[in-house]
Amino acid sequence: MKILTVIPTYNERVNVEPLVRSLVALPLNLSVLFVDDRSPDGTADRVREIAREFPTGRVEVMVRTGAKGFAASYIDGFRHASHMHIDAILQMDADGQHPASAIPDLVETMERTHADLVIASRYVAGGGTGEWATVRRLISEFGGFYARRVLNVPYMDLTGGFKLWRRDVLEKMPLERLTSKRFSIQIETTWLAHRMGAHIVETPFTFAVRERGESNMSAKVVLEGLLRVLQWAASPLPVPALDRGRRR
Ligand code: GDD
Ligand code: MN
Repeated sequence: MKILTVIPTYNERVNVEPLVRSLVALPLNLSVLFVDDRSPDGTADRVREIAREFPTGRVEVMVRTGAKGFAASYIDGFRHASHMHIDAILQMDADGQHPASAIPDLVETMERTHADLVIASRYVAGGGTGEWATVRRLISEFGGFYARRVLNVPYMDLTGGFKLWRRDVLEKMPLERLTSKRFSIQIETTWLAHRMGAHIVETPFTFAVRERGESNMSAKVVLEGLLRVLQWAASPLPVPALDRGRRR
């Protein structure tokens, strides 16, 4: 399976090198695309320096020009992926909270279960969140519970950002019509995939503690999630069905 890893970055200069090293060391056919929002700390330059060590195309950085945004960064990365000869797209964070060591299990789970989307999940048996502040944990657990109930989907980790997609699911998803600006894109894409009839499987992993740099999580992010979920439930975006014989 040929995989493109899409990683949004904002001020992750100190984190990109250890991440690239852990990714290229995996026994997988995997290339890496960073989608950087003109980070003032020089993240993109750091990626370019490291990329010189590898064959062309193995490690790349796309520096965005339009309005900054987490969701827009993923959409740009996913669009870029649709021009590439790959089988799957892996999305993850740059800060080490999504350990590269969990990736072989995601791939193995996709192959074994024929899933269209494998979610690395903090909230299934065997998963976890390391040492997280109680407030952060409560927000995350409440947010997941709320989104599950309002959208009526069974997935335990709707808000996480460590996911392996079969390429055609993202290709068929109406990316130009996503409404998320921030982290709610995680919920939105999983929900759309569910409605497209995708076979979605969760596999446990432990969300590590961020050791360097700062989180971009904020009250705005939480509020956007709560409001968007209501908006999607009230007027669901029309989606094409995947031809899998498992339509919903
Ligand atoms: N390009 C771009 N633009 N990248 C961004 C932006 C942005 O505006 N904001 C954050 N990022 C990058 C960060 O550099 C990091 O690689 C990744 O997105 C996640 O950001 P963090 O700041 O580390 O977020 P977090 O750890 O608080 O949130 C994580 O958990 C959430 C759920 O609990 C992420 O995995 C979220 O996707 C997830 O929803
Ligand atoms: Mn993080």
